[in-house]
Amino acid sequence: MPVYNEPSISEKIMSQDPKRYTITAALPYTNGPVHIGHLAGVYVPADIYARFQRLQGKDVAFVCGSDEHGVPITIKAKKEGITPQQVVDKYHGIIKQSFEDFGITFDNYSRTSAKIHHDTASAFFKELYENGKFIEEVTEQLYDADANQFLADRFVIGTCPKCGNEESYGDQCENCGTSHNATDLINPKSAITGAVPTLKETKHWFLPLDQYQSWLKEWIVDGHKKDWKTNVYGQCKSWIDDGLRPRAVTRDLDWGIPVPAEGAEGKVLYVWFDAPIGYISATKEWAAKEGKDWEPYWKDEDTKLLHFIGKDNIVFHCIIFPSMLKAEGSYILPNNVPANEFLNLEGNKISTSKNWAVWLHEYLVDFPGQQDVLRYALTANAPETKDNDFTWADFQLRNNSELVAIFGNFINRVVVLTHKYYAGEVPQPGILSEVDEQTLTELKAYPDVITSSIERYRFREAQQELMNVARLGNKYLADEEPWKTIKTDEERTKTVMYVALQIASALAVLSEPFLPFTAKKLSGILNVDATPATNLNWNAVSTKSQLLSPGHKIAEVQLLFSKIEDAQVQQQLDKLAASKKANEIMNATVEPQKETIQFDDFTKLDMRVGTIIEAEKMPKTKKLLVLKVDTGIDVRTIVSGIAESFTPEEVVGKRVTVLVNLAPRALRGVESQGMILMTETPEGKLVFVNPDASTPTSDSVLNGATIN
Ligand code: 2FM
Ligand code: ZN
Repeated sequence: MPVYNEPSISEKIMSQDPKRYTITAALPYTNGPVHIGHLAGVYVPADIYARFQRLQGKDVAFVCGSDEHGVPITIKAKKEGITPQQVVDKYHGIIKQSFEDFGITFDNYSRTSAKIHHDTASAFFKELYENGKFIEEVTEQLYDADANQFLADRFVIGTCPKCGNEESYGDQCENCGTSHNATDLINPKSAITGAVPTLKETKHWFLPLDQYQSWLKEWIVDGHKKDWKTNVYGQCKSWIDDGLRPRAVTRDLDWGIPVPAEGAEGKVLYVWFDAPIGYISATKEWAAKEGKDWEPYWKDEDTKLLHFIGKDNIVFHCIIFPSMLKAEGSYILPNNVPANEFLNLEGNKISTSKNWAVWLHEYLVDFPGQQDVLRYALTANAPETKDNDFTWADFQLRNNSELVAIFGNFINRVVVLTHKYYAGEVPQPGILSEVDEQTLTELKAYPDVITSSIERYRFREAQQELMNVARLGNKYLADEEPWKTIKTDEERTKTVMYVALQIASALAVLSEPFLPFTAKKLSGILNVDATPATNLNWNAVSTKSQLLSPGHKIAEVQLLFSKIEDAQVQQQLDKLAASKKANEIMNATVEPQKETIQFDDFTKLDMRVGTIIEAEKMPKTKKLLVLKVDTGIDVRTIVSGIAESFTPEEVVGKRVTVLVNLAPRALRGVESQGMILMTETPEGKLVFVNPDASTPTSDSVLNGATIN
């Protein structure tokens, strides 16, 4: 067996590595739960990275928390008729729990409504304020006189001056990613009342980004061309080339962190000023709990600071937050900002408001114990270089044809055969053949290959390489056929099974960052402790020829993955179809309101509650029913155009609203002496204006009465 004394590439990379890692994942807005778009874009890659570094024995602070300020929270609270605090309390709980259950290993998941954050953000602002880093200026800002409120950020919608998107927010266009001032919007409209805003003077504090322009150019455009992702670098370069302008970092809102400056009553910090400071407060909170010093994680040059975000957050993490850190002066800057593009769902943009999403907390209920399947599918399809699409069909295929058929199948064969042939004991190998040697040499190369991909933030590629380890195992077994050699060559079979078991234990180590639940299960099956502190760790896989010694006893077989059935996928598709239907109904075009009538006109109508006592179809027509209606004052004939919606049997006995003083009219030779009031639901269904319903109609909201 060859002896490997040379340090591996992983070891070499590690020796040049920083002392510690501060890994941040974008703080999710607490106006809704977390969905697969968030996971694929930010949390899964960040978690893979953090787990990977911990496996290398690195000192890691992986922090996140709820972003609880800002307009989205206020809008949600207004919509639900509750306070912003109630909104954030509800979603903070759901988000925190679902991250934990999904195996996202934050060292601390904090929240921006925490006192430590208010204190930290306030002190940060004060420091800059006192050192004259802000411009204080009275400017005209958009104002909604009806709502009696300034319209910052998402309170205003208008046309993006850069790309023409008509639904751009005041601070950012989600279509082109441009960040702008609300006054830059063309045709702005209040998101609260729909009113066209007026301009009103107000004082604010601005971070003069123009003063940081040449420094940013040097730092990013000249300094990070090679190591930042093309999409991130490109966006930054374009903003810097366009020229930066001062950005207001305060707002006239009542939800947020009060501005600690003179004459700032009623003003709060802009959410994008306070949120990234949330990374610092989360680190402080964690360090205090752990009895550590937080400062090296943010101030020591030997710390690698990384921000995992989605592409809509690039400007804030690459331009604004670094300028804030630079202005303060004692902080390090991010080494990299590996932002991802967006994940779509079944061909459409994921949307919280349209409920077009796969919600993490619901996935965890619908697919119990199958966290790794989603992690796997999201990484396999990660929107690393372009927007990508998640489909349930792909999810099923990734599970059934890859996790079950490749990874699970290999482990299952190894474990079952080891029990069958050797009562669960790792056999003593004989002399290794050339194929065995080659296979083990190939195996040893994988940690470095995977390391190299992860260090370049190519998580899809890294995960594919992990699967190649399982493929290597499957191919080895298929070629060496221990189930055949057991009948002819016991010694050879022992060697083959020994080699296969080495591959299985390498998988227990290498899969941990990607498939942590599986890695744990596999460690249990192999009866090993695959942690950095043991002999079975990342480095051992690339350097040692023997990971499992002969005589080691493995545990009973367990299935690592199970098949995802068509019915499960259909259930998810049905959920999405229901969302689509609900959206169509919401967006259905509604007839505009008819001309206003005067009260006197209305009082001329004599409406009574009547009962349909007889009904029959008008011969030779499709639409008409001839009804006998007891109006309380008489029994009369009414011809009603409802035959396409109701059978005569269905309407007999129905109590209805009747307009009794309408001039009689002959229809197909039958005199109609009044009208039954009907209306249409938004879905276009005819319903009676039913006097017995507690609401105008039990079916749906009315969209205006039509008289039939
Ligand atoms: O886009 C978002 O969901 C923001 N809440 C991200 C904030 S990241 C950070 F700066 F806090
Ligand atoms: Zn735009």
